[in-house]
Amino acid sequence: MAAPSDTTSSRRDVLGAASVAVASGAVALAAWPVGRYLAAPGLRTAHAPSRVEVCADAQLAPGQMRLARAADATIAVLRRHDGSLVAFVASCTHLGCTVRFRADRDDLHCGCHGATFDPVTGAPRSGPAVSPLGSIPVEVRDGRIFVGT
Ligand code: FES
Repeated sequence: MAAPSDTTSSRRDVLGAASVAVASGAVALAAWPVGRYLAAPGLRTAHAPSRVEVCADAQLAPGQMRLARAADATIAVLRRHDGSLVAFVASCTHLGCTVRFRADRDDLHCGCHGATFDPVTGAPRSGPAVSPLGSIPVEVRDGRIFVGT
């Protein structure tokens, strides 16, 4: 059996280790949103994903948007009212929520905190986002829409 001073020391060690673990968890939990915020601008400069087929050209009417999954990014492909196609990384540059095309307002909108982006350039128009959405190459080949390179 251990001497009383050894038991006290052992309890202190266990409590000390538990306190450090709890404090580390709290710091990590508090730092996550900050890290996510700081990481978000990287999304706008994401390299173009490998070429991915989105859908048939005829399946994307003016004013509509499709989401495509490419590598580690979600891509928003939209056809504007003039028939032109554009594609962006769909992750809002504020904190990463997925943006949606609002054809009636001619913008890309993030429902999380209300950021809006220009649907031609990806530049932020309003809300907390200050960085543009990353532009992705898009083309129609043999009647199919492709994004990436
Ligand atoms: S995550 Fe889009 S506005 Fe905050």
